[in-house]
Amino acid sequence: MKNILVLGGAGYVGSTVCEMLVRRGYKLTVPSRRLVNARHLLHLPTVNLVEMDVHDAAALERAVAGHNAVINLIAILHGSPAAFDKVHVELPSKLVKACLAQGVHKLVHISALGVNGANPGSGPSGYLRSKERGEAMLLQAAAGSDLELTILRPSIIFGANDKFLNLFAKLQGVFPVMPLAGASARFQPVWVDDVAIAVVRSLELTVGRSSDGGAVRILEACGPHVFTLKELVQLSAQLSGVNHGHGRPVIALPDWMGRLQARMMELAPGEPLMSRDNLDSMKVDNVATGKVPGLEVLGIRTAALRPIAAQYLRTR
Ligand SMILES: NC(=O)c1ccc[n+]([C@@H]2O[C@H](COP(=O)([O-])OP(=O)(O)OC[C@H]3O[C@@H](n4cnc5c(N)ncnc54)[C@H](OP(=O)(O)O)[C@@H]3O)[C@@H](O)[C@H]2O)c1
Repeated sequence: MKNILVLGGAGYVGSTVCEMLVRRGYKLTVPSRRLVNARHLLHLPTVNLVEMDVHDAAALERAVAGHNAVINLIAILHGSPAAFDKVHVELPSKLVKACLAQGVHKLVHISALGVNGANPGSGPSGYLRSKERGEAMLLQAAAGSDLELTILRPSIIFGANDKFLNLFAKLQGVFPVMPLAGASARFQPVWVDDVAIAVVRSLELTVGRSSDGGAVRILEACGPHVFTLKELVQLSAQLSGVNHGHGRPVIALPDWMGRLQARMMELAPGEPLMSRDNLDSMKVDNVATGKVPGLEVLGIRTAALRPIAAQYLRTR
């Protein structure tokens, strides 16, 4: 049985990844900042939950030791430039060093669609710039080493516990209108199970070595269809039956008003629903570039959103 360290295994995508890996006979270690965050994984028989600070380089190296592969799903959507750097650049940097020091040859890193691999650090938002720098650092570390690196770049991810269609449906259940920033931004949503299968196959399918000695695979993870944000909001209402499936009037906010709304959300307690940085991310379309291969390389034909979302939104 192979031992896999899954960073961020208790998160939204990570939980599906863990369930799939356990079903396939893997033995997992899942670190979490607080065990309570990972309690929903307790029923999985071959998961060892460990409370730890993954930013502590020495502790991370001890955690990596003895595993055959590492998956990194840790990320934040909101934060200061320093917080983005800590999570999206410094943590993967410590992780890849730990892998090389401990003879772990396989790393699967989840990045994000919209990352500009050709010009790292040039993205429109702090989130994307830090993801770009994290990828660039990993590529540099992998070059000439015996590490097999897969980087997956998903578009927005839908599924029963997603944080966007469910939220849009919930908001329309409460409010009579939907003032929406970034209404025309385009996305190519991908099903969480397809992303999880991609992670599993990335572990199982060897990455070919290029002439420079590196073994790197970068894949975009997108569903088959493109939607604007406004269309996704409307679809969430239709599929969940809000206002008899008609939903609420969606009012596309002009840029300045969207930023003001985002600023107010940032000031509210807890995780903001939307930040100005999120709006900045939406300045580039979140759709497949066509310049980077997709999940078909792993033998995955991605699922359409509508029939799957209809099932879980109907029963919310
Ligand atoms: N969800 C999407 O639509 C989407 C779209 C594109 C790309 N992605 C990428 O896919 C990956 C997984 O996303 P997700 O939606 O599953 O994320 P998530 O649910 O927010 O989970 C991320 C995990 O990261 C850990 N974490 C959060 N902040 C941390 C910090 N400051 N220090 C250490 N650990 C921290 C948390 O683990 P503990 O609480 O257990 O410590 C959490 O479970 C990420 O790389 C994300 O960028 C997601």
